[in-house]
Amino acid sequence: MKPIQVGLMGIGVVGAGTFGVLKRNQEEIQRRAGRGIAITMVADLDVARAQSIVGEGVQVVNDARAIIANPEIDIVIELIGGYGIAKTLVLEAIAAGKHVVTANKALLAVHGTEIFAAASAKGVMVAFEAAVAGGIPIIKALREGLTANQIQWVAGIINGTTNFILSEMRDKGLDFALVLKEAQRLGYAEADPTFDIEGVDAAHKATLMCSIAFGIPVQFDKAYVEGITKLGASDIKYAEQLGYRIKLLGIAKRRQADAAKNLPAGVELRVHPCLIPAKRLIANVEGAMNAVMVQGDAVGTTLYYGKGAGSEPTASAVIADLVDVTRLHTADAANRVPHLAFQPSSLSDMPILPMGDVLTAYYLRLRVADQAGVLAKVTGILASAGINIDAVLQREADEVAGEGNVPQTDLIILTHDCVEAHMNTALAQMQALPTVLAPIVRIRKEELA
Ligand code: HSE
Repeated sequence: MKPIQVGLMGIGVVGAGTFGVLKRNQEEIQRRAGRGIAITMVADLDVARAQSIVGEGVQVVNDARAIIANPEIDIVIELIGGYGIAKTLVLEAIAAGKHVVTANKALLAVHGTEIFAAASAKGVMVAFEAAVAGGIPIIKALREGLTANQIQWVAGIINGTTNFILSEMRDKGLDFALVLKEAQRLGYAEADPTFDIEGVDAAHKATLMCSIAFGIPVQFDKAYVEGITKLGASDIKYAEQLGYRIKLLGIAKRRQADAAKNLPAGVELRVHPCLIPAKRLIANVEGAMNAVMVQGDAVGTTLYYGKGAGSEPTASAVIADLVDVTRLHTADAANRVPHLAFQPSSLSDMPILPMGDVLTAYYLRLRVADQAGVLAKVTGILASAGINIDAVLQREADEVAGEGNVPQTDLIILTHDCVEAHMNTALAQMQALPTVLAPIVRIRKEELA
């Protein structure tokens, strides 16, 4: 049988890796796919550079629409990124009856509903293993490997840049801004790192995992997103003293209704810095590595670890999708694995909960005047909000630099799970106390057990 022909849109780091790995391992890949897979056309604005990567045997064009117009091409790989021209081209490729393989998490998290509907109507596949956690086959695990389970929660370190920064902050005791500069110098962080450090990239990935885990439409606009820019070295140090590490987690959690707390059933979808027990394996994922934990009712807790970015790790995921699409390309669309794991007609309308309804535990750091009665006032406010304290740590006043003549100290409080809205009320009341001298730091805490 003739190799299946593939057109590649955008040959940057991942595209070059995909071309290279496909070529290097072509024999092995063909034995697995049952058919050769050949990138026969590449579209890139820099034609000369692209041609130097792929060699003379591959047609290089600067107009991606030439790929879509080529009837010989069955699969389009979209590695342009963003949701501008990439969205238009993906929809045009689908309309032309081509399968699409993409690493574009932003596009699918924001426009996935429209794109998957168009693909289903046309009977083509949109495969996106490379969009979440790079080389880790987490989409495959969630969609297929764990298909027997009711997934209870997914929690992952799904942004390498921020994990690198947090690891450096902990190792070197440095503040965020300094480490970010170093990360940019070393090429871990982009010149414009906003999507990474503000948690947006992780939220795109968490949105996709959430949909596949629970069979709900992609709803990036309902995700709670908080990055790592406000984290201080002192919070990382205090967390450590209490037996925790701070990681940026993407969390998707199924929640039953709780009549006693007046909380509805739904799904929590959130990205924010999080204290996790230092003894968990995932707490020890360092540098730019990624890891995802999934809790299923039958399987229990599982953990997936690997490189979340980079040329060949991401190419590994792109090619896995190429092989899947090649195997299933002639199959009846109804017998393929559905885009979001559940049959499109069986997607649920289980709501994504507002952040105020989220149930979680907290780390609080209060810079307070070292005076009689301060602790009593703070704990009184927590008690009246129904918030149960788990642990308290207070530094001796002279360990904390004070200003003027007022001795001051850091008061660190860990709470048990409570409703976020109750915590917000308590925080506002504590912040209003004259003896609380600086904005209170609040970091959520998950046991992941
Ligand atoms: N910028 C991402 C990261 C990789 O730092 O993990 C691509 O999503």
